[in-house]
Amino acid sequence: MKAKKILITGGAGFVGSHTADALLRQGHEVRLYDNLSPQVHSSGIPEYLPKDAEFIHGDVRDLAQLSEAVRGVDVIFHFAAAVGVGQSMYRIADYTAVNNQGTANILQAILDKHSYPEKIVLASSMSIYGEGQYSCSRCGDFEPGPRALEQLKEKQWETLCPECDEPLVPLPTSEDKPLQCTSIYALSKKDQEEMALLFGRTYGIPVVALRYFNIYGTRQSLSNPYTGVAAIFASRLMNGNSPLLFEDGFQMRDFVSVHDVVQANLLAMESSAADGKALNVGSGKPVTIRDVATELGRALGISIPLDITGKYRAGDIRHCFAEISAISTALGYMPRFQLKDGMEEVVEWLSSQKANDYVQEAVERLNVHGLVA
Ligand code: UD1
Repeated sequence: MKAKKILITGGAGFVGSHTADALLRQGHEVRLYDNLSPQVHSSGIPEYLPKDAEFIHGDVRDLAQLSEAVRGVDVIFHFAAAVGVGQSMYRIADYTAVNNQGTANILQAILDKHSYPEKIVLASSMSIYGEGQYSCSRCGDFEPGPRALEQLKEKQWETLCPECDEPLVPLPTSEDKPLQCTSIYALSKKDQEEMALLFGRTYGIPVVALRYFNIYGTRQSLSNPYTGVAAIFASRLMNGNSPLLFEDGFQMRDFVSVHDVVQANLLAMESSAADGKALNVGSGKPVTIRDVATELGRALGISIPLDITGKYRAGDIRHCFAEISAISTALGYMPRFQLKDGMEEVVEWLSSQKANDYVQEAVERLNVHGLVA
């Protein structure tokens, strides 16, 4: 394979740096573009930043700097984003500037510099679905909207059948499920996805949007209390605190190893079979948030009881896990990491890490805005 010049925005981050390592191993030339957001990188440049990559300390809100960064690259992985569901609900302008305008800037930079890449791979998110797909044993399949506030106030967490009011059974969510964003973050990811795909169609540039589910793994920020629930739980446990679980902890997600996400990223770059598409990237297996917290505690050898808050975080959905047949068929993607093995790798990494637990402050900030009830 011919070596490519590759730009990764958000390249110092969790997904960006792992993707960079894999691309460097394949002999590609990698340029990382990252603003080293203090919320994520509390000690500045991370020690894992690959030495063989070029590093540009830059912000996607800076069109002039970005225009230099896109020059002459063959492939762009656009991962830079502000990523907290709860936080996005009170930092609306910031999230929109970084995620929506930042993506617009990349596309503008490509046009302004006449530097057309052969591929753009964009980090989209499962959050754009809102609630996942469901079925009622009596009334059939549903794609329900957000749970009613009255029901959440009564701590009735399950999504109810719109016809008979009985709890629905969650099903794997596929790409054709109508999108129903329930947070500013989700809305910004939907916008990013549509903007990039539309740009691709207009200018004949292959674009792939990957809808990542809940990613976990080494290098996930241990100081960012707003997102990355596995790392948040780890940080709580390592500081002797109970993981705080919203609702009853039985909400289900799809936890996918960062190594499997890297596999999907590389396949999307190398193959043309996903061009112009938006595809799920998950493990295909549902797991409750409670199980994640319990499994982490067990793997860490720390026995601290979970704090089941019985509170609801604005913007959260109840259940969503991935149907992965579309990406498997198109790209031959196959998740290789089971949660249990993946957690063990994380725990080994954690033994050399310091975790700053800012969760209490983060919850207080959500409280001030009435976003936890
Ligand atoms: C991740 C992603 C984000 C992605 C999002 C989808 C990272 C770094 N972030 O966030 O980019 O688009 O999933 O929503 O991978 N919860 C608790 N206690 C906590 C924190 C969260 O119980 O301390 C619960 C939430 O209420 C929710 C569930 O865990 O029910 C998952 O949280 P979410 O924010 O969706 O997922 P993250 O993995 O944090």
